[in-house]
Amino acid sequence: MKKTAIIYASIHHKNTEKVVNYLSSELPIKVFELQDAKTLDLKVYDLIIIASGIYNNELHVGILRWLKTTDIKDKEIGIIYTCGIRYKDYIKNIRKYVIDNGANYVGSSWCRGFDTYGSLAKIGGIAKNRPNNKDLNKIKKQVEKWLLK
Ligand SMILES: Cc1cc2nc3c(=O)[nH]c(=O)nc-3n(C[C@H](O)[C@H](O)[C@H](O)COP(=O)(O)O)c2cc1C
Repeated sequence: MKKTAIIYASIHHKNTEKVVNYLSSELPIKVFELQDAKTLDLKVYDLIIIASGIYNNELHVGILRWLKTTDIKDKEIGIIYTCGIRYKDYIKNIRKYVIDNGANYVGSSWCRGFDTYGSLAKIGGIAKNRPNNKDLNKIKKQVEKWLLK
């Protein structure tokens, strides 16, 4: 199995944190919050998984900021995200960045996450009770494939 680390940002309802905590409880994966990623020695890991909620159509801004300070050449990188509703390709920019900078992009996995942003709060939010067990298992299956590939 590949040595794997997840770097994550989860600021709205800890939806993404729920996913990554589940993954690390089921699979041999180390998990780091984005703010702790600066001191991380990426050389130790074969596979880096970036995980984040979607905030205004993008992963957390800090993710790209961190990537820009990091040598990702020849690193395997996967992306996981949670979002209120997926109506567009939210990871287009970040995917382009990792590929353009020489990383070996392995793919992405996502699920919906409880969302009360802005006026959605007035209707009690959307994607209530997400991520659910089905979401967690779907993402775990994908990550398992990355670990074994
Ligand atoms: C500031 C902000 C902006 C958001 N923008 C989007 C968006 O553009 N598209 C979407 O589907 N969800 C959007 N959401 C909802 C979150 O992506 C969703 O709730 C996600 O699961 C949050 O993950 P977290 O709890 O790990 O932070 C937004 C939430 C916040 C707080």
